[in-house]
Amino acid sequence: MPETTWWKRGIVYQIYPRSFQDTNGDGIGDLQGISQRLDYLQWLGVDAIWISPIFPSPMADFGYDVSDYCGIDPIFGTLDDFDRVLEQAHSRNLKVILDFVPNHTSDQHPWFLESRSSRTNPKRDWYIWRDPAPGGGVPNNWISNFGGPAWEWDEATGQYYYHAFLKEQPDLNWRNPEVREAMFDSLRFWLRRGVDGFRVDVIWHLIKDAEFRNNPPNPGYQSHQAEINKYLQVHSADQPEVHDVIAAMRQVLEEYEDRVLIGEIYLPLERLVAYYGKDLSGAHLPFNFQLIQTAWNAHEIEKLVNEYEGVLPDGGWPNWVLGNHDQPRIGARIGKAQARVAAMLLLTLRGTPTMYYGDELGMTKVEIPPESVQDPWEKNEPGLGLGRDPARTPMQWDSSPNAGFTPGEPWLPLAPDFQTCNVEVLSQDSGSVLCLYRRLIDLRRRHLALSIGQYLPVQSGGQVFAYERRHGAERLLIVLNFGHAAQAIDLPDGVGKARVLLSTVRSGDWHVEAGCLDLAPDEGLIVALEEG
Ligand code: NOJ
Repeated sequence: MPETTWWKRGIVYQIYPRSFQDTNGDGIGDLQGISQRLDYLQWLGVDAIWISPIFPSPMADFGYDVSDYCGIDPIFGTLDDFDRVLEQAHSRNLKVILDFVPNHTSDQHPWFLESRSSRTNPKRDWYIWRDPAPGGGVPNNWISNFGGPAWEWDEATGQYYYHAFLKEQPDLNWRNPEVREAMFDSLRFWLRRGVDGFRVDVIWHLIKDAEFRNNPPNPGYQSHQAEINKYLQVHSADQPEVHDVIAAMRQVLEEYEDRVLIGEIYLPLERLVAYYGKDLSGAHLPFNFQLIQTAWNAHEIEKLVNEYEGVLPDGGWPNWVLGNHDQPRIGARIGKAQARVAAMLLLTLRGTPTMYYGDELGMTKVEIPPESVQDPWEKNEPGLGLGRDPARTPMQWDSSPNAGFTPGEPWLPLAPDFQTCNVEVLSQDSGSVLCLYRRLIDLRRRHLALSIGQYLPVQSGGQVFAYERRHGAERLLIVLNFGHAAQAIDLPDGVGKARVLLSTVRSGDWHVEAGCLDLAPDEGLIVALEEG
């Protein structure tokens, strides 16, 4: 696979469609809204959009409960609207990645309705049905990721079905070849239409322990954590057989040219990289969420980057994610000043970057009053701060009512600062985080060292993380101050001249005369090095 492949060089931008742009006034974003905003994405400079699920769904988990894999939910529009998004994106050189949700369907999917209709229905085995435990009660101790037991009793047929998420999201039985074929056909449906790839939801969950053994207790569990953490997920996910399923899925994509398979996987690094598959037969990009999960200081992040670079399989292409619709926004987690450093980190590391809509505006966290809560997880396990709504609020386009997101009532509240924090205002302010993102993206596009160059760690220390990216004769030094105090670092040995190309806090570019680089508090720099 040459390093010119679009998904290696490109930048992925995640759109949460409910919150991007509404055009019909129902307060929920739609496909026509995405079409209208493609010019913005082109201006920003990203290469691909990943759209969270837009398929028909009862919306128990806002689209992650699919009732038809080959259609568009009327909330979002029609298949024609989708084809227009695809065509208009492609005409702007933007790729389109869909969200494939293979682990579970909606409980309203016709397959599940058939499956639960009787024990002898031909689709009974398409889902995971079990008798009660010998003494009665649930078949084992597996917990739903949204709290409570992962088994739901079906009175009519006298068995339990398994759901790793909501009870409205029954898990498919991926050990059944008919399920695989039906799901692969739904991939082909979209691939034939021209989509450029898939982000695959909870791909490490697809296969469960054949014997459904109990998960062992987690000795580190604390009561303020989500209930799923009570047990170590040893038997309910990440089973060795999953890699065969993923390789088969990858083969479906290989029937078409130049498509990408991205896997959603929350696992520690050494287990994550197994998802590249034997001889790279698995996901092209097993999503790497470590930047979201690692303590934000120079030492830990440096250690993480070096470890990740160290465990990647030969030829495995790295990737980095800074935010998504399931996690607190980076701006809320580390503050606005460090979020700019994070932007520079994301867009200068080796590997495909994935951005989350609104992070380029420095959006943080929107307080959701109890009566406005939408997220089923927050409703199931209230008060633990697990709710995902604060990171899913409407995109802020301008200073007009509802930030230009909707002419109606938005499905989630707007951030209170939307009149100053929006695309229209920030795009006019060259010092804004939005303009920083745009410059970083532009630099990454113009300098191959940043997109496909080598990564080389550089000794720094203190609250500074530094590294070089090199391609051919080009050497770029990235220096990131994770601290709130000024710092100075020495230029690498043998460097004669250096020119700062971009700072996260100062404007312009400048030459560095002496051998020492000064860093302002919370500052990141990209520096072109010349030997001499
Ligand atoms: C992961 C998705 O990103 C999340 O939003 C969803 O709730 C679960 N998978 C279940 O599909």
